[in-house]
Amino acid sequence: MTIPVFRTVAEMRAQVADWHAADKKIALVPTMGHLHQGHLALIRAGLVTADRVITTIFVNPTQFGAGEDLESYPRDETSDLALIKGEGGHAAFVPLLSEMYPEGFATRVTVDGLTEPLCGASRPGHFDGVTQIVTKLLIQAGADFAMFGEKDWQQLAVVRRLTRDLDIATEVVGVPIVRDDFGLALSSRNSYLSDAELQVARRFNVHLRAAAAEIAAGGAAAAACEKAAAEILAAGFLKVDYVECRTADGLELVTGSPGCRSRVFGAARLGGARLIDNHAVV
Ligand code: PAF
Repeated sequence: MTIPVFRTVAEMRAQVADWHAADKKIALVPTMGHLHQGHLALIRAGLVTADRVITTIFVNPTQFGAGEDLESYPRDETSDLALIKGEGGHAAFVPLLSEMYPEGFATRVTVDGLTEPLCGASRPGHFDGVTQIVTKLLIQAGADFAMFGEKDWQQLAVVRRLTRDLDIATEVVGVPIVRDDFGLALSSRNSYLSDAELQVARRFNVHLRAAAAEIAAGGAAAAACEKAAAEILAAGFLKVDYVECRTADGLELVTGSPGCRSRVFGAARLGGARLIDNHAVV
């Protein structure tokens, strides 16, 4: 037996209505597929939080910039559906492009401020694509909860803001980062790395973590982040998009000593991959 796979919004809504009528709470797990343990942790968190979990699989073209990896983004629906079922997920929403962006689609959703630094600066337009598709998914599903990974901390902050601002009743739940044995944050894009690049990639979290520890011990944030960026380049990365310390909620830049809950955020390019990660300053 496979899990139900909804291809249309109407099919998903009919199932959600039935579950809600039976007093079941529903969690949504939005993904772009090529599922790994990080996604499965979202499903598991959904199962703990709610009675039914719907995982969405949609490679959203509007969040990819020109020259990015939209065409090569890894896709394997059969394997994804097997993984969702194996984890105990109840259903999948796998819409066609035409279901999500029908002819004449013309609506944008923009969150100011939070989308401007970090990945917003190095991937112009990316967050407008994310907010557009996430808003649609949340409205389409009408779920009680939506699970988002903390690896994409900025995305999580942006989605929290948009649900608040637009009075979307779904509660956004952040789920801790899943890492490999060497601390590398799991990502679908890690599959672009050769074995040699993977060894280099595993230095990324080490330097970000060291910067966070240095700041926690009283070091100036700007200097600690600059040092981490230089070490990431020296480890073999092609380019560092940013290493910055920012407040956890408002994403305001911290250069000295953080006065409130803060994190060190990094993005860097290696081979065909762009890695992102973040660590709490504690
Ligand atoms: O984090 C992702 O995989 C994507 O940005 C999301 C939230 C599924 C929207 O396409």
